[in-house]
Amino acid sequence: MTGTTTRPAGPEQLRSRIAAELERTRARTALLTEAVDEADLTRQHSPLMSPLVWDLAHVGNQEELWLVRDVGGREPVRQDIDDLYDAFKQPRRDRPTLPLLPPQEARAYLLTVRDKVLDLLDRVAFTERPLVADGFAFGMIVQHEQQHDETMLATHQLRVGPAVLHAPPPPEPTAGVDGEVLVAAGEFTMGTDTDPWALDNERPAHRVHLPAYAIDAAPVTNGRYREFIADGGYDDPRWWSPAGWRHRREAELVAPMHWRRDGDGWAYRRFGRWAPVRDDEPVVHVCYHEARAYAAWAGKRLPTEAEWEKAARWDPASGRSRRYPWGDDDPTAEHANLGQRHLWPAPVGAYPAGASPLGVHQLIGDVWEWTSTPFRGHPGFTAFPYREYSEVFFGDDHRVLRGGSFGTDRAACRGTFRNWDFPIRRQIFSGFRCARDARPEESQP
Ligand SMILES: [Fe+2]
Repeated sequence: MTGTTTRPAGPEQLRSRIAAELERTRARTALLTEAVDEADLTRQHSPLMSPLVWDLAHVGNQEELWLVRDVGGREPVRQDIDDLYDAFKQPRRDRPTLPLLPPQEARAYLLTVRDKVLDLLDRVAFTERPLVADGFAFGMIVQHEQQHDETMLATHQLRVGPAVLHAPPPPEPTAGVDGEVLVAAGEFTMGTDTDPWALDNERPAHRVHLPAYAIDAAPVTNGRYREFIADGGYDDPRWWSPAGWRHRREAELVAPMHWRRDGDGWAYRRFGRWAPVRDDEPVVHVCYHEARAYAAWAGKRLPTEAEWEKAARWDPASGRSRRYPWGDDDPTAEHANLGQRHLWPAPVGAYPAGASPLGVHQLIGDVWEWTSTPFRGHPGFTAFPYREYSEVFFGDDHRVLRGGSFGTDRAACRGTFRNWDFPIRRQIFSGFRCARDARPEESQP
């Protein structure tokens, strides 16, 4: 049995929901691009990232391509800039040298496209055509813009200069969460057929059998990670894979990105401000190789993607998989640290209402969690609406990350949502939790 999803009651409710999501998302894009001056918008803050003004016009260009031209069948607004903002034709390192639209022109372009989209939204019939059924293409464009907003947030974290982003700190812990949760052997439903805005790589729903395993009840904290550093974890090749050790030496890794020594302890720079590293927060800005080395040092391993999803979605009482750990309802501020409401991960124990039926906490929000699984299609995968969305990234080069971070919007985060990146990347808001095989005495029913 697969998860159920609350569908909008009719086309008018769907229209107003889409309009609200488009507007909410554009407000976030505006906040991220109006917080800095024109020089900061056009500068490249890291060779890993685009100038913010590239992301800005790219968001508008994708909205034009998919909604104005494809769904609407209307005349192009700016066909001449398609190549400039094609992520496949323009590697990130080259983007600052392109004749990009200056900030004011990019903003005007986004407004023109959005006017046409709102006009189209008033008239569109949500037929059975897959691109428009349940408003899929609009949902895809909302998620695309939110994903670029998270990328722009990561660019802000790499930017040098005085702080320009402000947010209250995340909530304090209200529950004690420690140790691991044992998950019994058995089948569960992975992926989805029914979530209307789920992307191609989340589909189809399929049954997966897993042997018994244990998974950490919370993400690995800064406090635990500091023990790994203090124990010489970065200097001991025993804990690292051969590729990981090579990378650790070449990149001279000694601690998570954005950390520096601070007396006896460590400080962490977040969005232009240095703060002492807090022991009960999930560690963030570690690459897959670091996560894997920590897990080996701790006598464990990273969870597979299926183990992560079963811990997050499987409800042993009903036997079905939920949309989220807490149920099928969309996330609220009580459930998870999402949507840039806060600018760093919340301490462990801050979201008891977001725990899964098995008692696993903070799976959604806070930090993206590395899994050991290379990114591939689920069995029966079909590329939609185009191969470049996910299929061209399948293979051993990318590892899957799950659950979303404090910088991920709820529109781009579900129990089935899949992210992927190279194992050396850590400018993203990435952390992890550990897992292990169940011992024979634990596996008895
Ligand atoms: Fe994109």
